[in-house]
Amino acid sequence: MKGYRIEERYDLGRLVTFLPNKRLPVYNWFYFKEGFSRDFVMLMADWFGIKRGDWVLDPFCGCGTTPLACKELGVNSMGIDVSPLMLFVSRVKVRDYDLERLREDASSLFAKKFRPVEVNYGKLIKRAFPKHALQDLAFLMEEIGKVEDEASREFFQLALMSSLDKVSYAIKDGGVLKFVKKEHIPPLRVIFKRRVKRMIHDLKKVKFRRCEIRLKLADSRMLDFLDDESFDYVITSPPYLNKIEYTKIYSIEHELFIKDKWDKGLRSYIGLRPKSMSNPFPELELPEVAIAYFNDMKMVIEGLYRVLKRGGRVAMVVAEGAFPNGIVPVDLLLSRLFEDSGFSVDRIVVVNRRVVTKDRTLKIGRARESILLVRKDRRNE
Ligand SMILES: C[S@@+](CC[C@H](N)C(=O)[O-])C[C@H]1O[C@@H](n2cnc3c(N)ncnc32)[C@H](O)[C@@H]1O
Repeated sequence: MKGYRIEERYDLGRLVTFLPNKRLPVYNWFYFKEGFSRDFVMLMADWFGIKRGDWVLDPFCGCGTTPLACKELGVNSMGIDVSPLMLFVSRVKVRDYDLERLREDASSLFAKKFRPVEVNYGKLIKRAFPKHALQDLAFLMEEIGKVEDEASREFFQLALMSSLDKVSYAIKDGGVLKFVKKEHIPPLRVIFKRRVKRMIHDLKKVKFRRCEIRLKLADSRMLDFLDDESFDYVITSPPYLNKIEYTKIYSIEHELFIKDKWDKGLRSYIGLRPKSMSNPFPELELPEVAIAYFNDMKMVIEGLYRVLKRGGRVAMVVAEGAFPNGIVPVDLLLSRLFEDSGFSVDRIVVVNRRVVTKDRTLKIGRARESILLVRKDRRNE
């Protein structure tokens, strides 16, 4: 395989995780373990020399970190995600709010007198919450549903959604929900009120600048709705190759807030359609999910090539995939797909090396997490 310039920067390892966002107003309105950090986007903006007036695309925008950081910089951005839940979270975080209106709507909501609301929750929800939390939840959901202003209504819905972890027996543990009985669960109405107040306060803490932000619910394997050469930069992180199905750990959020619109077939990797699959690497012995992954990523990369301007740059965070037979070098193989599509690979920046085990004990090897830095050359045209 062709050699690429590989640089090791383990000091950047934390930046490609969500951890630094946990303390940041607005960025932390929803804990999305699969997200990267504001500071990663800021670093890429610095490396690329992104300036006001530019357009940045994140085709896997998750909880909206890229568009939000671009809003801080005053840079135009578009975020795409196939998950209605993630798009909802992004929308609430990047919106411009009328603070006065939000405060008034919050006061009216807090002034509502509690009354029991009859709701027939499914098995999962009943198992996840104590009775008193379910009563508060039903009441709050009904009252929030009556809030006329869409911006306020969705703001309260996100506040309620992200208050739930504190009153739940369900814990997000890796790729599954674990149920743990807790002695004391605080009242949801109190947690929710505190959360709304904090979120309103957050809006005064971050300085956002004027820019355009577009969000779209779509599958990034098919970017045909975007014009040719309409973006200057791409900053993104697609789902990792053999991550477990992480939509499972957000099943409570989906069931309560996104019920009708959830495509249950969606998996953490970007799509598995074995019937129509072509293998971009027939010479390698890859597991079937890896073939599907590269088949899909090829479609994404070809789309990115078309929508990027000449001279446009891409920063993509990826990780190697671990399988019982060994490690799949995702960064190198994606680099090849980038080159096959016309891009040139500037360098691969390795930021983490994780020990991978089989059956939790047997060490298979170390999987790299890397930032791929590629560009659409001017001279290729
Ligand atoms: C690693 S996360 C991105 C996290 C993001 N950087 C952030 O900071 O929140 C990958 C995202 O890709 C989305 N996704 C998966 N398949 C997709 C597809 N085919 N098209 C668009 N988005 C997809 C998932 O819903 C998930 O939100």
